[in-house]
Amino acid sequence: MPEAILEVKNLKVHFPTVDGIVKAVDDVSFTLSRGETLGVVGESGSGKSVGFLTIMGLINRRSAHVEGEIIFKGRNLLEVSDEEMRKIRGDQMGMVFQDPMTSLHPMYKVGDQIVEGVRAHRDVDKKEGMELAIEMLRRVGIPKPDQRARQYPHEYSGGMRQRAMIAMALALNPDVLIADEPTTALDVTVQAQILELIDRLKHEFDAAVVIVTHDLGVVAEHCTKIQVMYAGKIIEKGNRRDIYYEARHPYTWGLLQSISRLEAAQDQRLRPIQGLPPSLINVPSGCPFHPRCPHRFDRCPHEYPGLQPPHSDHQDACLLPFDTKKKIFHDEVAVRA
Ligand SMILES: Nc1ncnc2c1ncn2[C@@H]1O[C@H](COP(=O)(O)OP(=O)(O)O)[C@@H](O)[C@H]1O
Ligand SMILES: [Mg+2]
Repeated sequence: MPEAILEVKNLKVHFPTVDGIVKAVDDVSFTLSRGETLGVVGESGSGKSVGFLTIMGLINRRSAHVEGEIIFKGRNLLEVSDEEMRKIRGDQMGMVFQDPMTSLHPMYKVGDQIVEGVRAHRDVDKKEGMELAIEMLRRVGIPKPDQRARQYPHEYSGGMRQRAMIAMALALNPDVLIADEPTTALDVTVQAQILELIDRLKHEFDAAVVIVTHDLGVVAEHCTKIQVMYAGKIIEKGNRRDIYYEARHPYTWGLLQSISRLEAAQDQRLRPIQGLPPSLINVPSGCPFHPRCPHRFDRCPHEYPGLQPPHSDHQDACLLPFDTKKKIFHDEVAVRA
């Protein structure tokens, strides 16, 4: 077994609001090891970002009720001080976002920003910092990095800004890189390049990577394992093969059927999942997906099985009998070009 760097146990993140409690993350557990790329997939509003912001210590604990454990290299991050968390963040865990401008300040040169990030954690002078910044820009594939380091973010294209943000996140050689919808704002070709880059850097830096996305198509090639989120819960998890070729949960089937695959035949209709994700204040009883599920039966509004079978690498939280799921998947879902 590879060494687990991050182990999340029964994480809950609930926001009390005037309208009720938003159960953004509801009993989520998973592990992450070096060399792994974990794909976290689910429609918008399923709790993906809140979960990883909590892991990064970026959720205000005064406005959220957080429960469970986040064990990072043997320590529970929910118990370390803010000061300690600031040291870990950026240094040992890096995060990149959909919008690079959440990390890049528009008024400062890109190189200087990377230098500042490095100097906040390491005792290096400005010159050494700049050498590292230029080296990082080169490693993320930015041409003429010494010139580019002296430019402002607005002088970069969208894809280059994303690369610069990755350079900044990796400059301190973190153990974990969390990429939250890193390519959603980019066109398809640039998306593929950025994901390739993350893949390559994962090996170079011997890190673990998390890619958060609403598009199961995006993570198809790049993830070693995948967890599918719905209404703040993981409703299926498995390795890449399990999810693409043996998915067991009707929500995962819906996501697979709505993948906008490039290679799909022109006449192949995209089948988005019917209905909308639930409000996380009024999550449906039983299985939260039952109101939208084409395969629901009488038990679904009353029972939630949790992830089954226990202690398995491939688990799902659907009440349908195993053989039924297998049959439906092969008859209705796996019929892809
Ligand atoms: N500070 C907050 N207060 C109340 N609700 C929040 C807060 N932050 C996020 N949420 C809610 O948590 C839910 C999950 O959000 P998020 O994790 O951003 O979803 P995703 O990243 O999967 O699109 C959403 O319903 C969102 O409105
Ligand atoms: Mg999000």
